Amino acid sequence: MPDSFSQLPAAKAGFQRALRRWFRAEARVLPWRSSPSLYRTVVSEFMLQQTQVKTVLPYFARWLEALPDFATLAAAPEEQVLKLWEGLGYYSRARNLHRLAQIMATRSAPPRTPESWRELPGVGPYTAAAITSIALGARAACVDGNVVRILARLTADGREFRDSAMAAKTFAPLAVALLPAAGAGEHNEAMMELGATVCLRSNPRCGVCPVRRFCAAARLGAPQQYPRLAPRKTERREVVRVWCLRGGALLLHRASVGARRLAGQYELPTAAQAGLSEAAVACGPLLARRQRRITRFAITETIYALPPPRGKLGEGLGWVPRAKLATITLSGPHRKWVGELLCRPAAAPTAPGPRQLEP
Ligand code: ADE
Repeated sequence: MPDSFSQLPAAKAGFQRALRRWFRAEARVLPWRSSPSLYRTVVSEFMLQQTQVKTVLPYFARWLEALPDFATLAAAPEEQVLKLWEGLGYYSRARNLHRLAQIMATRSAPPRTPESWRELPGVGPYTAAAITSIALGARAACVDGNVVRILARLTADGREFRDSAMAAKTFAPLAVALLPAAGAGEHNEAMMELGATVCLRSNPRCGVCPVRRFCAAARLGAPQQYPRLAPRKTERREVVRVWCLRGGALLLHRASVGARRLAGQYELPTAAQAGLSEAAVACGPLLARRQRRITRFAITETIYALPPPRGKLGEGLGWVPRAKLATITLSGPHRKWVGELLCRPAAAPTAPGPRQLEP
């Protein structure tokens, strides 16, 4: 812990005060802040895991409109829950939130401590601290990448961390030490807000920072050097996919409902899902090549047109009529690719027809 905070309580109180004053004056108006409730906090924190505020906003509005409270969510069909989540990614979050609401429906009162929230599906240390501090008044500290960045800069801590989890563990005691006696939720939100709008990763806006006078890195003149995280090794992956039309329907693969990442969603089948070798698929005309990143993976996806397979379709495969595509839950990038490819005359279906994939 930096000397200024451990040895000078006045520095800590001054820091808290400056942060709070700034947050009250400058914070973005966000729907889960304007009319807070436990449900709104839980939904927003699940959506904000790995996703930016501006992406979450329309999803949050649609979700609250359709599923306004824990009881409605608990009773909703999984199809509806996943459809409302479509495009946000990391679908296990939606399934966990659904299960969490079902567990809440069986209890007379919500749990109150971070430890008891951590027993619920999809609730890690950050989310437990956020929910209990913001909605239930617990004195718990949130430590995510944003908070690590602020704390590493405040202390100009030049150690190299193996990964962000290690950095979060290292800075947790300081995050706790900086919590005020009351109002931990507001303090946590102020830290998140500072990390998201001022203490930015590559171009920190130190000129408008409310806690600049406490910041050792700003004094040294090189805040963007902190925190030092070991470079992540990128793993390259190639995925070969099949584009196959029969009459007016598209061949799609549906992940099992229990699948962690995709949870019941549809995608263009991979070669293996279509029961073919990648070499065999790559004989067809190449329709698209797309790059994307998922965590540390740099993935190149290639999509080849193939004639309809003969015989019985493999596990999870089925024909989805074009008219039904809008109603099923396609994973985010696949919705985009399918939309793009259907607009191309060479890739578009010709006549109506076949059997539909049952959900
Ligand atoms: N990121 C995670 N939780 C958040 C919150 N409550 N407000 C803004 N950004 C967040």
